[in-house]
Amino acid sequence: MSKEVILTGIRSNDEPTLGNLLGAMTPLINMQKERAGEYQVNMFVPDLHSFTTPIDHGTLYQNTIRNLKYFVAAGLDINEPNTFIYRQSYIPAHAELTWILDCFTGFGEAARMVEFKDKSKQVGDDRVTVGLFNYPILMAADILLYGAKWVPVGDDQRQHLELTRDLAIRLNNRFGDLFVVPEPADKQLSFSERDNQVRIRSLRTPEKKMSKSVEDPAGTILLKDKPEEAAAKVMAATTDSVGVINFDWEKQPGVTNLLQILALTTRQPQDKVNSEWSGKSSYGELKAAVAAEVKSLLSDFQEKLTQVDKEALMRKLEADEDAMRKVAEDTLRKVQKAVGLRPS
Ligand code: TYM
Repeated sequence: MSKEVILTGIRSNDEPTLGNLLGAMTPLINMQKERAGEYQVNMFVPDLHSFTTPIDHGTLYQNTIRNLKYFVAAGLDINEPNTFIYRQSYIPAHAELTWILDCFTGFGEAARMVEFKDKSKQVGDDRVTVGLFNYPILMAADILLYGAKWVPVGDDQRQHLELTRDLAIRLNNRFGDLFVVPEPADKQLSFSERDNQVRIRSLRTPEKKMSKSVEDPAGTILLKDKPEEAAAKVMAATTDSVGVINFDWEKQPGVTNLLQILALTTRQPQDKVNSEWSGKSSYGELKAAVAAEVKSLLSDFQEKLTQVDKEALMRKLEADEDAMRKVAEDTLRKVQKAVGLRPS
């Protein structure tokens, strides 16, 4: 029997952040480490997704390669035989399946996506593209082409995963068993051994998510930040005037964000971290503990980045793209037959 697939992707539009690392990269890499050989692991760069909002196209290609190096620096073992890395645009079936799925997606259904609404506000009405509207459906194609059951993503992408499930179920009901249906959010969470959905907030405006596409340098930790500078950003994080540490997203989002980062960086259950810190009054000590973890995480990551063998990475990438192109084309062919584009 073929192995169950774990799949995730990080866009290459901007510098990846601590949110990308803790929300998506580390859970996948931890799963790879803990369950090596048991699953197939697909970690790819959705480069077509990278210009759903305006970018500098002169840096896109290099940024895509940078993301792949980041995967390795974050701990992805590319020598593991069941692990595949690839660029979305090198596998045309992604775009072709998207078109087919588009024609089975309600306009109102796509318009309900919260990320679309949020990003539309950020870029301004006159710069909102059809690409931005359509990107959750491209994401569904990314997942369904490879039969991925497990898709570690941050909280912001959870709704897109639900849309993917809806589309898979819809087409399966209409045309027979075409797609593996990804598991629902609660199962994804327990599979990642996490107790909460991960949404790292801006250190400056903790009501908002930490995001690479938003101009918020003091609130955002980039993986390329100097470790000391990242620690200084944590020390300057916005907290509140309550004066007591509590895990409470509504009333104390800044402090709660720090507790969340501490649990994830030390790989401890959130409850354990909360019980250690709750009721204490020194925000400074909490910040110092988080700053130390973030600093050591980035030092380690950046040290590993200097050791990435780019030639070996490119060889692996091209071989994997050939292998994954076949898998994707097989799925696409099945779908083309089902919808009547090819004889059955
Ligand atoms: P992207 O590139 O915006 O983000 C990549 C991953 O990082 C997670 N993430 C966060 N998690 C926690 N806190 C944050 N502040 C934070 N910021 C980002 C995102 O949830 C995501 O998991 N559409 C996707 C990329 C994609 C994809 C896919 C992912 C395309 N196709 C197929 C999985 C499967 C995106 O825009 O991610």
